[in-house]
Amino acid sequence: METLTEVQVDPSKIMQIGMGFFASKTMLTAVNMGLFTLLATGELAGQSIKEKLGLHDRGLYDFLDTLVALGFLKRTGIKETAVYSNAEDADLFLDKNKPSYVGGMLEMANNRLYPFWNNLEEGLKTGKPQNETKTGEAPIFEALYADQSRLREFLKAMGGIQMGNFMMFAQVFDFAKYHTLCDAGGAGGYLAAQVAMNNQHMRCVTFDLPPVAPVAKENITMMGLSDRVSVQSGDFLTEDLPKADVITMGNVLHDWGAKEKKMLIKKAYDALPQGGALVVIENIIDDNRSVNAFGLLMSLNMNIETPEGFDFSAADFDGWAKECGFSHTSAMPLTGPSSTVIAIK
Ligand SMILES: C[S@@+](CC[C@H](N)C(=O)[O-])C[C@H]1O[C@@H](n2cnc3c(N)ncnc32)[C@H](O)[C@@H]1O
Repeated sequence: METLTEVQVDPSKIMQIGMGFFASKTMLTAVNMGLFTLLATGELAGQSIKEKLGLHDRGLYDFLDTLVALGFLKRTGIKETAVYSNAEDADLFLDKNKPSYVGGMLEMANNRLYPFWNNLEEGLKTGKPQNETKTGEAPIFEALYADQSRLREFLKAMGGIQMGNFMMFAQVFDFAKYHTLCDAGGAGGYLAAQVAMNNQHMRCVTFDLPPVAPVAKENITMMGLSDRVSVQSGDFLTEDLPKADVITMGNVLHDWGAKEKKMLIKKAYDALPQGGALVVIENIIDDNRSVNAFGLLMSLNMNIETPEGFDFSAADFDGWAKECGFSHTSAMPLTGPSSTVIAIK
């Protein structure tokens, strides 16, 4: 006899996650082709979308109606009489012409991560990265930065995925007793910019490798913040970090193995005054490693993307920070699966 619980167990979650790439790839393809950017200028009939995006008749309505069913498009009429428009979230976050665009990360997911994740099994069996470095040998940032369009795509992607966290952190963290901030691995300068915008007394440095500087300078100038945010080039593996009251690291520590993580935390400690703060913004995994699925998936992504990188919990961070001399640490949730962990010198 089957028990009631056995009868209620069904395979829908298994199928939903297992076949999730159908939905994921459909949405990523729409982002990549600029469908939501196109529809942000006004609603369009299926045939007009077909012409503007160069699509074939065969999959046209299946593609568009899948996006309706997934909630990214709205529609009146059906097939030949259908008129499509963006759903509210798609219009705000997936229109390339809006500053709220978060599709940079999705473009990178479509163009790089999707094919690389096809080799997850090999990554798990060898422990080796499965990205460009697999054939070309260059370390990840060198490989990414070797051409301008990949560099810009990567920096936009980073900005998109972290923007909500940066805004929230800049607004809720108490900067009253601090005057200077250095964002180590600051990419496009978005965190330094958010802190400066929300805290008029703060002067910030965004610190990253030399190829990133022109893009960061462009962004800071565009935001009118050049008087309080400066761009400094350097290599945090071989050089000291610039001295500041607050050192931030967004999605930096997860790129590296335990040895480099501790070295970077120690460099932050050395660059801070007594009472200074090291602020780490990442998809911090819950201490029991059973709830923050995205943090755990990001750690697998680090297996794909880096030689030794991995994501970590607040307890892991507390251990490393105390080893480096910090007196105490705390954690604060940010948006979605992200948190900040803070160590005070
Ligand atoms: C994953 S990205 C994170 C960017 C940004 N902080 C964020 O949260 O979106 C890591 C950053 O570290 C920078 N980086 C990597 N190696 C570096 C090095 N040796 N010295 C300085 N910056 C480095 C990269 O250029 C990149 O901008």
